[in-house]
Amino acid sequence: MPRILVIESEAKIADHYGKLIQDHGYEVEIAQSNSMALKLMSEGCIDAVMTNYSVAGKRLLDMVVSDYREIPCIIVSSKDSIRDSVDAIKRGAFDFLTRNDSNKDIIGSLHNAVENRNYAGPKRRRSDKMNPNKFGELVGESAAMQAVFRTIEKVANTDSTVLITGESGTGKELVARAIHNNSDRRDKPLVVINCGAIPGELLESELFGHEKGAFTGAHRTRIGRFEMADGGTIFLDEIGDMSPDLQVKLLRVLQEQSFERVGSTKPMKVNVRIIAATNQNLQKSIEEGTFREDLYYRLNVIPIHVPPLRERKSDIPLLKDWFLKRLGGRRRQDRKRMKVFSDKALEVLMRYDWPGNIREFENMIERLTVLVEGDVIEVEDLPERIRGSNIGEKAITPSPLQNGMGFNEAVEQFQKDLILQALKQTNWVKAKAADLLKMNRTTLVEKIKKMQLEPFERVRTEEGFPNPLP
Ligand SMILES: Nc1ncnc2c1ncn2[C@@H]1O[C@H](COP(=O)(O)OP(=O)(O)OP(=O)(O)O)[C@@H](O)[C@H]1O
Ligand SMILES: [Mg+2]
Repeated sequence: MPRILVIESEAKIADHYGKLIQDHGYEVEIAQSNSMALKLMSEGCIDAVMTNYSVAGKRLLDMVVSDYREIPCIIVSSKDSIRDSVDAIKRGAFDFLTRNDSNKDIIGSLHNAVENRNYAGPKRRRSDKMNPNKFGELVGESAAMQAVFRTIEKVANTDSTVLITGESGTGKELVARAIHNNSDRRDKPLVVINCGAIPGELLESELFGHEKGAFTGAHRTRIGRFEMADGGTIFLDEIGDMSPDLQVKLLRVLQEQSFERVGSTKPMKVNVRIIAATNQNLQKSIEEGTFREDLYYRLNVIPIHVPPLRERKSDIPLLKDWFLKRLGGRRRQDRKRMKVFSDKALEVLMRYDWPGNIREFENMIERLTVLVEGDVIEVEDLPERIRGSNIGEKAITPSPLQNGMGFNEAVEQFQKDLILQALKQTNWVKAKAADLLKMNRTTLVEKIKKMQLEPFERVRTEEGFPNPLP
């Protein structure tokens, strides 16, 4: 669940926004002062920040921009001023709202902020402390990824439009960031917008801005993402989902670098590099009539295809270490310990096809760093569907029948293994193991006694049966 930090010294206002945000499914942290806010941010796990535009608010915005560039900062000002709004956006705010804006606007903005978590505002520093790599968080040593890196290097410093294609979760957004960060636009904003996540009618004003009174609910003039990206890069994610109307307008921006705010006839000029991405087959969309062919050719000046993980499995060992290091240290209490995979477990990872690509891989590692108690991740710790791809492999899932067991004996052995694994995962804390097994603690204690289970039996589970525990 995304976690929002609200910085507000007035308890009543803090309470109001806290409740509003919570009601919309976010977790909320309230800080009454900047120092409290900085402490919470330094502990990690903050997905967006919301503050006012007082002197302290401005100071906080500057600190977020310089030290926590990955956290978007939304300003909710007590004053409706276009000057403040432009100033805040230039300083690196993700969005500027006022207390008169509707709850819907505020939640909408928060939603966008969380979606665009790594938004880099105009003044954001080039070198991100966490990622000293040239390509940011993008790692890979396979030939396929090396080719992607070479293309990024070659095209970064041109203004050519780039179209990134690839299955979901392959790293398209990271490629876009790497291009921006290796270009001489790097000190200007990289503005990310997910064309699929925003309803068509809102997307136009999100991209191009709107004038006050342009439509119901347009209480004031707002600048769009293209204006925010001036001098920098705009990343149009999920471009394949854009409506035909907007496709026409985007085509015009590509041809003339000019557009109008919704409700205005005054053309605006911007200097923006466009990177688009999609996981759809645009050629098929063109045939089906949902994507404009002329727009496709305008976008596809430099195509970059990010290959799926199953086609570059040689990256798995490196990715595993990368994520273990990064995710293992996310919670403060875990920072000292970094888990390792057993050889057999790694073999299973290499055999699986990863339909969800790196996102699936990353999520699995995050889950394991939280759930596995010991320091070594074993085959039986892996999720069922990943181990499932190895069914029939004797070394990993021995069949009880092959071991010459009858039904009763096999069931008993299975129960024993299940209990042993729960005990192992919880370091033999019986109350925790009982919770994991969704079993009464006394029942568990009885079973342990009856089965004469002792800690040294832990080894047996390593050759035991696949286990349905999470
Ligand atoms: N080569 C890589 N090295 C390290 N992390 C990666 C790599 N590729 C992707 N990731 C991580 O995997 C996750 C998915 O990446 P990203 O969002 O860039 O994928 P995507 O192709 O844009 O997916 P979608 O089409 O679903 O939007 C992110 O958390 C990203 O950090
Ligand atoms: Mg993406």
